[in-house]
Formats: sequence, C-alpha cells, structure tokens
Amino acid sequence: MKTINLTVNGQPVCAEVEPRTHLADFLREQLRLTGTHIGCEHGICGACTVDINGEMSRSCITFAVQCDGADITTIEGFDDDPLMARLREAFTSEHALQCGYCTPGMIIAARDLIRRKGALEPQQIRYEMSGNLCRCTGYAGITAAIGQVMAERDALPLPPAHEACIGPAPGPGAKRTAQNTSNAAADDAGKPDDDSPSTSLSPGAAFETFSEDGLTTLTEHVIVPHDADRVWAFLGDLETVAACLPGARLIQQDGDLIAGEMRVKLGPMTPRFAGEGMIRRDDENRSARIVGHAKDTGSASRARGRIVYALQDTGEGTRIDIEIGYALTGALAQFSRGAIAKDLVGRLTRAFAENLQGAISGNGPAAGGSADGGSDALDAGGLLGAVIWGQIKSIFAAIFGRRN
Ligand code: FES
Ligand code: FES
Repeated sequence: MKTINLTVNGQPVCAEVEPRTHLADFLREQLRLTGTHIGCEHGICGACTVDINGEMSRSCITFAVQCDGADITTIEGFDDDPLMARLREAFTSEHALQCGYCTPGMIIAARDLIRRKGALEPQQIRYEMSGNLCRCTGYAGITAAIGQVMAERDALPLPPAHEACIGPAPGPGAKRTAQNTSNAAADDAGKPDDDSPSTSLSPGAAFETFSEDGLTTLTEHVIVPHDADRVWAFLGDLETVAACLPGARLIQQDGDLIAGEMRVKLGPMTPRFAGEGMIRRDDENRSARIVGHAKDTGSASRARGRIVYALQDTGEGTRIDIEIGYALTGALAQFSRGAIAKDLVGRLTRAFAENLQGAISGNGPAAGGSADGGSDALDAGGLLGAVIWGQIKSIFAAIFGRRN
C-alpha cells in the first residue's frame, strides 16, 4: 500500500492505495464519488473522464498513486462552475442525454473543448468530441448543446489552461493541436543535435496529434552520417527502403503507384496487410509524400496511412524529418490508440533508421531479409512486450522514486 495526499473537489484527501488501483476505482470505491463512470476501462469511451490539475484525463487508465499531490475535480466538483452550469442547461434543452451514463465524461470533455476552442462547425465539434462515446442518445443533441454554449463563449468565464498533465488526455487534439505541432516541428527544424550520434532519434520526439483527415500522426527525426545527395538517391530505391522497415515488402512499382505488404507477428497470428499507394517525390526540396491503404483479410482489419519525409543537410550528416499518420479499423484497431501505439511507432522508426543507415553504408539492413525478398515479419508481440515493460518500469520509477 502507498499513502497518497491529494485534493479532490477542493477537499484534502489522504488515503492508502494499492499501486495497481486506478483512479476511477479509487474515486468510486474509496471516496464514493460515483459520478465518475466506468465503461470500457481501456481509455476509449470517455465515461471516466475527470479533471486532473486543470486538464481532462482518463481516470480508468491513470493510477491513483500517480495522482499524489494532484488536484482532481470530478463531476461532483463542478456544481459552482458557471461554464458547467451553462452546459447542463444546454444538454437538458437539447435533449443531449438519455440514460446519462456518458454524460459526466461528456460534459467535462465539452467544457474542456470550449475552454480551448471556439466557433467550431458541428462537424468539427463531432470530431473534437470523438473521444467520448454515447451508446443511446445519438450525437445530434450533444453537438447542438455544445454548439449552443460555444456560441456564448466570449461572454462566459473560461477556466484557465494548465500545463501539468498526469493522466492520458482523451479526444483528438486535446493536448496538442496540428497547428502547434507543426510549429514545434518547424521550430525544431535545422537545430543540430548537441552531440549527434551516428544515427539518432530526437529524445522524446514522437509528438502525437490527430489530423483533420482522422489519422493519428507522429513526428520523428533521425540523423544519418551521410550527405543529403546520397541519402536522397538511396531513398529513391523503394524496394531497398521497404526492406529497412521490419515486416514490409514492395511488391510492385509503376511510376508513382506502388503495391506492397506488411506482415505483423502478433502471438500465433501473422496478419498480412496488403495494399497500394502513391508516392510523390520533390527532388528540389528533397521531400516525399506517400499515401496508401491496406487490408488484412484474416483479421478483417484495414489500415490507411501517410508518410511524409524531408531531408536537410546538417553539414555533418543528413537529418530526416518524418511524419507518420495512420488509422486502423477492425480487430487490430486497439493498436492505433494511445501511448502504446506512439511508443510502438517510435520503436519501428528507430529500427527503420538503424536499418537505413546499415543499407546506405553498404552493410545491408540489420533486420535481415527473408527468402522472398521481404524483411522478416514485424514481431509486434515482442515490441509490445518491450513497450509495456518500459512503461511499467517508468511508472514504478515514478512511484518509488518519489518515496526516496
Ligand atoms: Fe472508458 Fe475510461 S472507462 S475511457
Ligand atoms: Fe446513454 Fe450517452 S446518454 S450513453
């Protein structure tokens, strides 16, 4: 057990909790704040949304021990909040609830949206609220209610924005919008790493956002110790480039059109995503854009994605800025959400960078190719194991580090 001290709805709380207890259970079972609902316990539905240190967060995937010292507001703590009062009125007048199970999380998310953004079209409100699911009302009333309050935004006292965030934030763009992500990437562009190793990823560079076309987008950069002309020429050989990505294989290329496949080993399953896409290379700016879609018939899963990369000569090597956007539907869709997906794509990018450097240097991709010319299937089970183990270690480091 661990002792935690925190503030809940303005009241100081001191409690003993098991390290495994998630915040939603702690709030409901120990503090009897049952307005925080639990739906999926996977961070998908948004029923458990609460406010932690001024930012909305999923309490079902936030450990209570992480909240030691935090200031938490549950739905019971918003009674005197003018923006929330206005939202309650609007939800009532627009019939934006039926059973009400989703409503606490829904209006906490709506309050956060109105705090951050105004003047959105109904379709944009739906997009922003897509991290909260309602199983019975339908979304027309919810969208209308939020639109009604958003129209009065200038006259309402808006809660301040906070920087500190503990739990995973629900909803697209909740933490970082596409605009400020690209600004951050632009700010970062051209800055050589302090002590660039031969191949490097920017530390913590995998910024995640949700783009307007519904793709979860990650940005990374790698630095390879070769001049930009050589790297650009190498990247024109798509077959070799595909072999650098674990599990990927180029099947056919006809001008800008490409066909390929990606095999992912998931325990006893090895789904094979086969699909097609298009590549556009801009020789003048040494940048390229690849878009495509693929399907695995075995798991009835579909993927679509976009890769954009640009090269920059740093004088000592070439920096490659990479933006990967992806969306999965079907049985494998759980891999398209949250920190695990971000970490997984970060590791994939790292493997790609190492293989790329090996190939450019003439040593061949480190991952090795299979007999059919493609690289071995991506062992996502092994990768996920490493990812999850890495996250468990960081959580325990946070818990026990604070005690020392
Ligand atoms: Fe569904 Fe937490 S219970 S997101
Ligand atoms: Fe019933 Fe949304 S009102 S789940």
